[in-house]
Amino acid sequence: MNRRDVLIGSAALMAAPQSSFAAGSQWTLTAAAVTQQVVPMKYAGHTGVLGFNGSVPGPEIRAAQGERLSVRLKNNLDEGTAVHWHGVRLNNAMDGVPALTQDLVNPGDSFDYNFVPRDAGTYWYHSHYVSHQQVAQGLIGPLIIDEMTPPDVDHDLCVVLTDWKLDREGQLIADYDNTHDVAHAGRMGNFAKAFLPEAALKRGDRVRLRLINAAVDRIFPVIIGGLEGKVVALDGMPLAAPRRFDVPMMAPAQRMDIIADVTGDLTLEMGHRDGAYPLAALPVSQSRVPRDEVISALPPNDRPVPGKPSRDLTLTMMGGAMGVRHGGDDIWAFNNLSGMQPEPFGQFARGETAKISLVNDTRWPHGIHLHGHHFFELDANGATGDFRDTSLVNPGEVKEILCVFDNPGKWMLHCHMLSHQSGGMKTWIEVA
Ligand code: C2O
Ligand code: CU
Repeated sequence: MNRRDVLIGSAALMAAPQSSFAAGSQWTLTAAAVTQQVVPMKYAGHTGVLGFNGSVPGPEIRAAQGERLSVRLKNNLDEGTAVHWHGVRLNNAMDGVPALTQDLVNPGDSFDYNFVPRDAGTYWYHSHYVSHQQVAQGLIGPLIIDEMTPPDVDHDLCVVLTDWKLDREGQLIADYDNTHDVAHAGRMGNFAKAFLPEAALKRGDRVRLRLINAAVDRIFPVIIGGLEGKVVALDGMPLAAPRRFDVPMMAPAQRMDIIADVTGDLTLEMGHRDGAYPLAALPVSQSRVPRDEVISALPPNDRPVPGKPSRDLTLTMMGGAMGVRHGGDDIWAFNNLSGMQPEPFGQFARGETAKISLVNDTRWPHGIHLHGHHFFELDANGATGDFRDTSLVNPGEVKEILCVFDNPGKWMLHCHMLSHQSGGMKTWIEVA
């Protein structure tokens, strides 16, 4: 052990008894307009954005698995808002969807969220009110639920990926409802960035990298340099067998945890037709003796055991540019209906398992997200695959998912390309 390891070791020993006696984790999130240097100085000055506690992304909220998390949202914006805890299997009243699970939090008002996260892993929070606008403006932040026995790594780095659509002065272009964007791939920023915390990396260190795609519409092909290791979790949920990564495609709202050893400067780039676009970098200083323990699976979260599906449902994505005509009254539709309907897409008994075919009958990719649950993606042979909360469905693709509806309440089901959602690609389900 070197001196640094000893110091870390004793700090951890001191922290441990405290956290086990603490009455959970308490936070305040204040939403307000702020200015921030989001693009490098040489291009532009401060950008007017919306932040939580004065910054974009908002604070990294951390809580322990199974321990109560309380967050007071204070709305200092001049419009309403609400916060959704993306990917967390929580009680319905805390889900943060205005008009479906709670009232809008008006300017000057506050709202107390509190829930006990049952799953460890990487999650995030974001506004769920005119979210295609408020998320693009910056109301996003990471939420980390710590395992009871976290994996042994030297650095735990949470990276928030996003993009910004800016004018020449570096200010957000406020055309959030631009019909062209909504009907195509969504609002694409002309500047993309990964918020990566500072860390003194040594070659040979073991790192846990938590990637969160918090962009409003952009799919990130992430080119990861200087790390050799495995993907250990998707959308917060540990993989039973960690797997290799090449250039992962991350749809909006998806997360990926990697555990890897540092082999050189850590670089994150976005694959792009004009070449790799730099998102963030962390230089390495010295070297240390690399570890020889293999990268093993994270402790599993508690997954439901799917029963025999009681129903075989189809959710067909329709509309958009170059799409076929549909029966809805907006740009996008699910099954010929645009926007929230009085009746849910499905009503389920608690514990019921259903199969849903996600049919992409459009020319654009969509990232389909179900609130309050994770679901199993099925492979071409119908075998149970990854347990996710957001699934990327490419044009022309049919993806089958199996869902155990075990969380009572009213839950949104929508495209997480938030411009598509605002253009009609949303519905809801109800679990009795
Ligand atoms: Cu991350 Cu309905 O949202
Ligand atoms: Cu979409």
